[in-house]
Amino acid sequence: MATETGLEVNGGSHTLRLDNRCTLLDALREHLGLTGPKKGCDHGQCGACTVLVDGRRVNSCLMLAVSLDGASVTTVEGLADGEQLHPVQQAFLDHDAFQCGFCTPGQLCSAVGLLAEAARTGERLDEASVRERMSGNICRCGAYPGIVRAVLEVSA
Ligand code: FES
Ligand code: FES
Repeated sequence: MATETGLEVNGGSHTLRLDNRCTLLDALREHLGLTGPKKGCDHGQCGACTVLVDGRRVNSCLMLAVSLDGASVTTVEGLADGEQLHPVQQAFLDHDAFQCGFCTPGQLCSAVGLLAEAARTGERLDEASVRERMSGNICRCGAYPGIVRAVLEVSA
């Protein structure tokens, strides 16, 4: 069974006719050609597919696209403002926090979501809380300390 679903993605409106079992990740990648969100585990365990839905970070492999009718979705492709990088993207560059490229889009979206969460609650972030709040994005290769530094810099 398929359902017509309206999604705003990175500022553009789309109406898609989607199988009810289609995940948000597959809708983004297969129907809209956005390959930024990555399919790592496809089971909610790696964070590579993280995107923002109405400003909150989600694992897009765990969400059914048709349940999000009317939602606003931001993928890594939508973070920059034209040529102007998002402050988190710039901080990742400055702190050498780009990793293999597979996990990075999810790390970036998760970091943007994390900073919004902290702004909502007034929480002051430190290294331990950044690591805890990024724990859904499991890559821990050599650049990981740079990710933590980048998030802390933008939060300061
Ligand atoms: S692909 Fe979604 S959490 Fe791994
Ligand atoms: S960023 Fe993917 S393995 Fe390190």
